[in-house]
Amino acid sequence: MKVNPTTAKGSAIRPFTKLKQDYSRYTDEDQSVWQLLMSRQMDKLPSMASAAYLAGIEAVGISVDHIPNFEETNERLLKLTGWQLVAVPGIVADDVFFELLSERKFPATTWLRPMSSLDYLEEPDMFHDVFGHAPLLAEPSFAAFLHLMWTYALDYLHNPKAIHLLSRLYWFTVEFGLIHEGGSPKIYGAGILSSSSESPYSLRLSETKPDHHTFDVDEVLMTPYRKDALQTEYYIVGSYQELYHSLDGLELKAYL
Ligand SMILES: [Fe+2]
Repeated sequence: MKVNPTTAKGSAIRPFTKLKQDYSRYTDEDQSVWQLLMSRQMDKLPSMASAAYLAGIEAVGISVDHIPNFEETNERLLKLTGWQLVAVPGIVADDVFFELLSERKFPATTWLRPMSSLDYLEEPDMFHDVFGHAPLLAEPSFAAFLHLMWTYALDYLHNPKAIHLLSRLYWFTVEFGLIHEGGSPKIYGAGILSSSSESPYSLRLSETKPDHHTFDVDEVLMTPYRKDALQTEYYIVGSYQELYHSLDGLELKAYL
């Protein structure tokens, strides 16, 4: 799930409808797409991804063999950190998005990209939402950071500029964040973890090399991002505890 791109205007793309994941509707092609996408990423991620993310895949029971069943994933997640996945039809209205996250409910789509467009998506699908996001919801400090960020958001719901600033924080951490582990940067952002090309690129392993910066919440809040291209800069946090404590005393009013 990515922050609603219309956040600055405070508008909704479509109304929120609660969905249930109808597992019987997944076709053989859907299952093949999941297997292909996940096995392709798991060829790379063991050396590139954060240890907590890799452990989270096991902890929440996500497997290359089949599309995750939300009920089974939630049974595990609830016991680990109190988070759960909630099926939504796509990008939801800001107020719904923030309220769900503040209740430790992570909005996730149930549709999967077709085999004919494995690498092109107009908006996030289940592979991004579940493979990318769900494993790290099992990491206590990260899960607490996510919850606290959106508790702040509820206080600023009617202030589009404040919500836009928080979307930058979400973008450069939850979606495109890197973390120092074992002396080198590793990936924990779901936007990178679910992208075959961005995984090596973000770690400067491709020909074109993006900038790496030490995570600083002030700098992140003042940095615009683009949704339509690979990121040109990434922020590296020292630990998930540091990420959580970066919100200590954060006063958005100072930035407005
Ligand atoms: Fe996302």
